[in-house]
Amino acid sequence: MIQKFEKVNRISGELKLKGDKSISHRAVMFACMASGVSRIKNLSNSEDVKSTVKCFEKLGCGFQKENNELIVTGKGYKGFVNPASELFAGNSGTTARLMTGILAAQNFESVITGDSSLSSRPMNRIIEPLKQMGAVIKASGGGKLPLKIIPVDNLKPINYKLPVASAQVKSAVLLAGLHLEETSTVLESLQSRNHTENMLGLPVSVKDGVNLISSNRMYYPEPKDYIIPADISSAAFFIVLALLTGNSELKIKSVSLNETRDGVLRVLKQMGAEIVEENVKYIMNEKIGDLIIKSSVLHNVKIEKNLIPNLIDEIPVLSVAGIFAKGGFYINNAEELRFKESDRISGLCNNFKKLGLHVEEFRDGFSVEGEIKNKNPEFDSFGDHRIAMSLSVLSMLLKDGGEVNNFECTKISNPGFLLQIKDITK
Ligand code: S3P
Repeated sequence: MIQKFEKVNRISGELKLKGDKSISHRAVMFACMASGVSRIKNLSNSEDVKSTVKCFEKLGCGFQKENNELIVTGKGYKGFVNPASELFAGNSGTTARLMTGILAAQNFESVITGDSSLSSRPMNRIIEPLKQMGAVIKASGGGKLPLKIIPVDNLKPINYKLPVASAQVKSAVLLAGLHLEETSTVLESLQSRNHTENMLGLPVSVKDGVNLISSNRMYYPEPKDYIIPADISSAAFFIVLALLTGNSELKIKSVSLNETRDGVLRVLKQMGAEIVEENVKYIMNEKIGDLIIKSSVLHNVKIEKNLIPNLIDEIPVLSVAGIFAKGGFYINNAEELRFKESDRISGLCNNFKKLGLHVEEFRDGFSVEGEIKNKNPEFDSFGDHRIAMSLSVLSMLLKDGGEVNNFECTKISNPGFLLQIKDITK
């Protein structure tokens, strides 16, 4: 479906967004692992989290909706049932990779599949450490889905140094590690999102800027009540739109402000954005607060390497902000963008060129500068939800608007995007 957008002149009002996608996946998985009933408030309504729920339903877990809560009946340690068919992770890397860590320790065979995007994404990054733990995982050519996980008698602990900053890889190892009496550790030199260790209460020590996270059977999850803060990655689109439209003021309620996720706010503030945090508190070890965003004049800044994992999913919309900021937009150290739901470096460059901007693409990033020359662009989302929403924001900032193809892919993270735009533009 092609979605047309007109220029937006002013943003105002208040948004309550659904729960953070990364935290939601984990809440569902941990509730399913626990023995008994857990309740999850404000779970993400994304297709990705629905994929996680469907997979764990096949593993024998119970789900019931009650108002804004999901009631989960978990199966307990090694209690999952042998699934009758393949586990389809849809478009969701978090579902596939974290679930592989959990399934590697079960005593039945399972197969994980995904859609065409997920089936082209690298899985060797989790297969490698899990094999070191003794897991037997067969992948398709080049380490891709489908993955067949073959049961083994016992896994063994490892001490694993992450070769890429990836919370999904870190989590896969830590979740497999929860099934062993002996302790496994993961070393990370660039801090990636820390929801797994936060939510499970895993021990973390920091030495010379390197994190060491430990996991063993003692930390296996118990049933509990989860409250999920609003998704900062979804909020980022509305934040950029409000900053760049005149006379705007927007409030976004109870957003996750986790220090490993707030890179987009830090960079936007350095760029001159007026963003204020209010009512800040901690729930389940996660920082949460309201954001007040006002129209601002932005200038581009250097984005430091150590911030990249903390804003990796927000780079597409940050680069849109960069187009309207003073000076050219430049990002490097971001090769991981090539391994997301689409190759986001090439996808963004391809679209920005349609505006007549001067775009340079490099292995680990890109730069954009110049004046917008072309009217009424037809943007290509490449079926990637974050590219689609970034280009929607870009369209709403253009004098004559723009249109975005395959717009329906936005439901992967935020099915409410259009309604929310309507709410804050009336
Ligand atoms: C996620 C981790 C990040 C992020 C993804 C969600 C998670 O990926 O880009 O959208 O929930 O753990 P990597 O682990 O590949 O960096």
